[in-house]
Amino acid sequence: MTTFLATKRDLLTFDDVTPEEIRRLFQRTAWLKQNRRIRSNQPTLAGRSLGMIFEKPSTRTRVSFETGMFELGGQALFLSSQEIQLGRGEELSDSARVLSRYVDAIMVRTFAHKKVEVLAEYATVPVINGLSDDFHPCQVLADLFTYEEHRGAITGKSVAWIGDGNNMANSWIQASAKLGFRLVLACPEGYEPESTCLARARQQAQQTGGVIEVVRSPRDAVFQADLVCTDTWTSMGQEAEQRKRQQAFADYCVDQALMATASSDALFMHCLPAHRGEEVTAEVMDGPQSVIWDEAENRLHVQKALLEWLMGVDIGVVKD
Ligand code: CP
Ligand code: NVA
Repeated sequence: MTTFLATKRDLLTFDDVTPEEIRRLFQRTAWLKQNRRIRSNQPTLAGRSLGMIFEKPSTRTRVSFETGMFELGGQALFLSSQEIQLGRGEELSDSARVLSRYVDAIMVRTFAHKKVEVLAEYATVPVINGLSDDFHPCQVLADLFTYEEHRGAITGKSVAWIGDGNNMANSWIQASAKLGFRLVLACPEGYEPESTCLARARQQAQQTGGVIEVVRSPRDAVFQADLVCTDTWTSMGQEAEQRKRQQAFADYCVDQALMATASSDALFMHCLPAHRGEEVTAEVMDGPQSVIWDEAENRLHVQKALLEWLMGVDIGVVKD
């Protein structure tokens, strides 16, 4: 079962995975999900450890990685930056080298994306981005899997993103280029996704048929969309801007009237945590088109497949 990758692989952004690898990952994810409770499953990560550095709060990321490692026979170490020497100024590059002597992979949730890159550069074990200011690839992998679980292949479909051009938006942009679907982002002025991320993705999308557009009006983005996504207006680290953001995003609430302009079988997604009555109404969140709890659950299954792959376990689809 165990085969080691020739060189270490990281997951910092969607640039680190090919469409074929995503497909294999999803096949393995489906198997792990379906067979989660089978006691005779091989503990594929027995004896392995995952170090998890958190510089921001988390519910889903922490619990899904920790539970995932446990279910595969390994363990996860929660390393709050407040409680490790990193918080007292130990260099990230030194921390990366030290942790690599103990654990088999490192997951990090932090602010500047550059920090994730430095960690990956100096770590000799795989590094997983558990959210930076610029990207949240684990969540979008889980979201893509969730869409396909409900509706089949996302390639060729139309996805609407409503609100902030933030870390989640950037990962959706990269995913569109990777898997070839149409992504229309509706953002208020001054909150559009970063132009370099857009330009790079648009160039890559030429090979896959992906199309990425940025518009102002949520109605233009949602019209006939197969999937409608949103996220908080104030991401972690932006708390001081909360009032200003609430005003800027006031017209960007996903409500039932907006959902009604999407395709009749459109799904609604939110990575959570959500603010009912701000970026989404309670009616939509709790309504029949919402798959938010599946998204949260699928973090566990997708990340288990990801951990196996990055730690060098063959993720070929395992037969009973
Ligand atoms: N969606 C997500 O990453 O949630 P947490 O902040 O709770 O980890
Ligand atoms: N954009 C949000 C996502 C939370 C999972 C944030 O960065 O806070």
